[in-house]
Amino acid sequence: MTRDVLIAPSVLASDFSKLGQEVTDVVSAGADWIHLDVMDGHFVPNITFGPDVIKSIRPYTDKIFDTHLMIEPCDPYLEAFAKAGSDIITIHAEATRHLDRSLQAIRDLGKKAGVSLNPATPASVIEYVLDRIDLILVMTVNPGFGGQKFIPAMVDKVARLKAMIGDRPIDIEIDGGVTPETAPLVAKAGANVLVAGSAVFKGNAVESYRANITSIRSAASNT
Ligand code: DX5
Ligand code: ZN
Repeated sequence: MTRDVLIAPSVLASDFSKLGQEVTDVVSAGADWIHLDVMDGHFVPNITFGPDVIKSIRPYTDKIFDTHLMIEPCDPYLEAFAKAGSDIITIHAEATRHLDRSLQAIRDLGKKAGVSLNPATPASVIEYVLDRIDLILVMTVNPGFGGQKFIPAMVDKVARLKAMIGDRPIDIEIDGGVTPETAPLVAKAGANVLVAGSAVFKGNAVESYRANITSIRSAASNT
């Protein structure tokens, strides 16, 4: 099967001291979306950045800003991330008590709504919110850090989600441990957006980013 796969580099693995330049470089290297990992030191054991940083890099590209909120609670901050320039706002099913309400709040802000599932969270969690979502983000590592090892059991979860969404226009995005080796496994199971941090930003130069993106994309497309 051949299908178009989008690559969403996570700036978590970039050099934060020159974040704007890193965004410019990874876009010129072929990035389709920019993945923004927001961590609060509470829902996940790490802290990254908030809406002001996202706002500061918004002028560097017109590409989709794919904001992945690993924060609990999320509801009080949705508006700030919308105003900062996010195009998609993804929340964790485990981080909100009223998932349906939070998703509707994102759409009410005029943004695309995504749900992320931790590795231990079953696919069935999204069964009754399918008409509220534009994207499902399947965590293939435990969230909090880049550079972790892909969890193979998630391939089956992707296949289940793909079957569950049927013909609905919902993206299935993979996050964690994506490499040219793991990308084909999830693409074959139905994923169409691949987040990659360390596998894209290794080499610390635009030529390396281009080669890295190309090799993930071609590995995923030849499934
Ligand atoms: C982990 C983040 C990921 C991370 C992926 O909590 O959500 O987006 O940056 O990093 P790699 O690709 O290095 O596993
Ligand atoms: Zn992420």
